Amino acid sequence: MLKLGIIGTHIITDRLLAAAKQSGEYRLTTVYSRHMARAEEFGKQYGATGFYDSLEEFFANGDFDVVYIASPNSIHYEQVRLAIENDKFVIVEKPAFVNPHEFKEVTRLLAAHPKARLFEAARNIHTPLFKAVQKKIKQMKFGGATLNIMKYSSRIDKVYEGTKPVPNIFNPEFAGGAIEDLGVYGINMIVALYGKPDSVNYLPMMLPTGVDGNGVATLTYGSKSVNIVVGKTSNNYLGTEFYGGRDTVWLDNAINLRRGIYYDDDKQAHPFDVKVANNDMIYELQDFAEIMNNLKDADNEARYQKWLQLAEDVNQVTYDLRQSCDLTFPADTNY
Ligand SMILES: NC(=O)c1ccc[n+]([C@@H]2O[C@H](COP(=O)([O-])OP(=O)(O)OC[C@H]3O[C@@H](n4cnc5c(N)ncnc54)[C@H](OP(=O)(O)O)[C@@H]3O)[C@@H](O)[C@H]2O)c1
Repeated sequence: MLKLGIIGTHIITDRLLAAAKQSGEYRLTTVYSRHMARAEEFGKQYGATGFYDSLEEFFANGDFDVVYIASPNSIHYEQVRLAIENDKFVIVEKPAFVNPHEFKEVTRLLAAHPKARLFEAARNIHTPLFKAVQKKIKQMKFGGATLNIMKYSSRIDKVYEGTKPVPNIFNPEFAGGAIEDLGVYGINMIVALYGKPDSVNYLPMMLPTGVDGNGVATLTYGSKSVNIVVGKTSNNYLGTEFYGGRDTVWLDNAINLRRGIYYDDDKQAHPFDVKVANNDMIYELQDFAEIMNNLKDADNEARYQKWLQLAEDVNQVTYDLRQSCDLTFPADTNY
């Protein structure tokens, strides 16, 4: 069983730990928090025995094989860097990094630390429903896609009220905003299905905090386009469509995939007969465990390299989208 360390003690880590337990592949041993009391309070519920409030000591002395990092986006890079330097396996939440400079440096570090591995936790693309959709789309012509990814954020009211400090997810210091937080799921799907686009454009609607509350992203492939409507200021229910020409694949949701339908040339509906677990983080955890448990397997290495390349391409596309509209973060100016 893989020994697990965690960074970040918010809700998503609870969810990850529930999936980790369900998978039977991971055992939480070690917790880092900025506050020792929090590390202990959070970790003891899950049976952890090692607690740290120093990152350096966490990595140097913590008894774990793999670290799950769920801190604010702009902090991932420094934490991943330390993890790789200590030869750990790393599962980092999406978006893995803020810009290609960070990604390039991480790639260099991975080459220097061959025992380390890096996985981006883009949970949607590891679900069995996405894998079934991917198989179907391979048989279809490419006619573009429309993705609707809008979710009213539990923290947006604080922005409207002008509450300070600004919630991390709406703070440019932490590389928050709609395209980084939610758009990245859609970009993962699209790049996994069709590769990198020829060109991109993003029209953001800015919040007073300096991040995009919502926006419309266009990814162009030849004469076809993929349009992503993304936002943290409303809920939408339109779902996502991948076009083949006469035929279409419809998905109920681009993040929490539950139902999918293939509409054939005669407009007949063929639902995908695939169930997705309520806690869909289990699929990425199973995929990653398979790699970490069988490092020498050539197929696993190929799958790992494919995911790493996908993460890098998604990082570049997300950055290019922000560049297209001069949406920059302090983390971009470190280079
Ligand atoms: N896969 C998913 O479905 C999903 C869902 C939600 C979020 N996420 C991703 O998970 C990551 C965390 O998101 P979140 O909403 O949980 O973030 P968050 O609440 O802002 O912070 C997460 C954790 O990071 C630590 N932290 C907070 N502020 C910090 C700071 N200024 N400096 C250093 N550490 C800090 C805190 O842990 P301590 O107090 O213990 O140090 C906190 O519990 C993001 O990358 C996000 O995109 C993924």
